[in-house]
Amino acid sequence: MEIIKVKDQQSGSQKAFELIAQGLQNNAHVLGLATGSTPIKLYQEMVKSDLDFSQITSINLDEYIGLDADNPQSYHYFMNQNLFQFKKFKNSYVPNGVASDIDAEIKNYDQIIADNPIDIQILGIGQNGHIGFNEPKTPFDCTTHRVQLTQSTIEANARFFTDKNDVPKEAISMGIASIMKSKHIILMAWGANKAEAIYQTVKGPISEDCPASILQNHPHATIIVDEAAASKLD
Ligand code: GLP
Repeated sequence: MEIIKVKDQQSGSQKAFELIAQGLQNNAHVLGLATGSTPIKLYQEMVKSDLDFSQITSINLDEYIGLDADNPQSYHYFMNQNLFQFKKFKNSYVPNGVASDIDAEIKNYDQIIADNPIDIQILGIGQNGHIGFNEPKTPFDCTTHRVQLTQSTIEANARFFTDKNDVPKEAISMGIASIMKSKHIILMAWGANKAEAIYQTVKGPISEDCPASILQNHPHATIIVDEAAASKLD
């Protein structure tokens, strides 16, 4: 694991952008993308750059079950707003949260990942150490699956909804086994509320209690943290 400590979210997002730009120069052509507040400034850097993504495939980590791409709270909508409306990709995949057959959608998504091995996977992290929507206790060998969100994740994500009761209780998430197959993983974390999760990820035991701790086993994982998120590391 390589830990990069930066002053703040802006400089960390710039650093992540540089790693992506280098990756593209070195022939990376599949990007794994994440949602949440963490990658927003990274996407802004990508948008204002002159990088061409028209030959790049993107594969998103997760989506709420029950929300379609037109729903402003869906992750698909988030990606359109923050990145895809500005930058044209060759293909962009986000799990379909309103598929009539969710099990078939899950199979289909695994096939997409198998057909397009991910060169660089971007990750945020939940306060309980979740990555994508792989909540604590998710088996490390899981591929794409249906997830019951934990209460803490529902509450953390409620800030994006006008009514807490509107937060979906289920999602489709790429699994940890799929994430671990990515050639390079870049996990970013900003703010003191991520400090404990970062501590467990970097210094804690490799345990399904903290899903991100599995990254200790990855041959090329880069953790970019601001001062607040890194505060428990020294
Ligand atoms: C959600 C997403 C994760 C994200 C996490 C943290 O649960 N499924 O991919 O990393 O939230 O969100 P934020 O970046 O807003 O702190």
